[in-house]
Amino acid sequence: MDAVHDFARFKAEGRKISVVTAYDTWSARIVARSNVDAILVGDFAAMVIHGHPTTLAATVRMLVVHTRAVARSAGGKFVIADLPFLSFRKGIPAAMRAVGALVTSGAQAVKLEGVDGHEDVIKHIIESGVPVMGHIGLTPQSVNQFGGFRVQGRNGVDAAKLLRQAHALQDLGCFSIVLECVPAELAARITSELSLPTIGIGAGLGTDGQILVLHDVCGLDMGHAPRFVRRYLDGERLMTNALNEYDSDVKETRFPAPEESYS
Ligand code: KIV
Repeated sequence: MDAVHDFARFKAEGRKISVVTAYDTWSARIVARSNVDAILVGDFAAMVIHGHPTTLAATVRMLVVHTRAVARSAGGKFVIADLPFLSFRKGIPAAMRAVGALVTSGAQAVKLEGVDGHEDVIKHIIESGVPVMGHIGLTPQSVNQFGGFRVQGRNGVDAAKLLRQAHALQDLGCFSIVLECVPAELAARITSELSLPTIGIGAGLGTDGQILVLHDVCGLDMGHAPRFVRRYLDGERLMTNALNEYDSDVKETRFPAPEESYS
């Protein structure tokens, strides 16, 4: 996948789209060798890589560093970078500086949360030639307004709001929308009403694709995992075992062996 047009084509053909996050060069290299369609350099980097409790600590500078590292090894995969907290809520010039920094760092598209109140920014970014991925539902940058990481759209009013927002993002020209933590039935309805592809996370099977955080996929997240996470690898255990083996080899003088030494 190398263009936003592929997202539209995949939806038209009924082919599901897989997206995973990456934040550094070694993980981008692994994703590049896989069949996964696209990479998101998400603001979850603030939590997963930097240990912050929320994504509010992500900055444009932080995302630029991660985007550069990912783009160097993305091997032709489509790279989308997140616009971090408030970076697109300070007016069009500030938003465009952030977009420019991410795109010149190697992103081919940007993702931003919400739509209400920044429709002009979204339109301006798209009219400047930069594809935009929308993101509605549980938008983690609004965690304090939601009172925690909660499923969104469970009652009629909230569901109607999400439907309206999804249509607004489509009308503004977004190429795709992430639906995060919304009831599966609502996500399927939004998906069937829109011509652009929806990418779900905690949104059931009825979306056009799925996105997961790489560290969740690989079991490297260490803490409590939300119910939508499927771990495909027990990475934490495998890495701990490897480190313990290395530790005992060092302490019991089994490492390095002669063939690992120079004469
Ligand atoms: O920042 C991120 O990684 C995300 C996805 C998990 C949707 O926004």
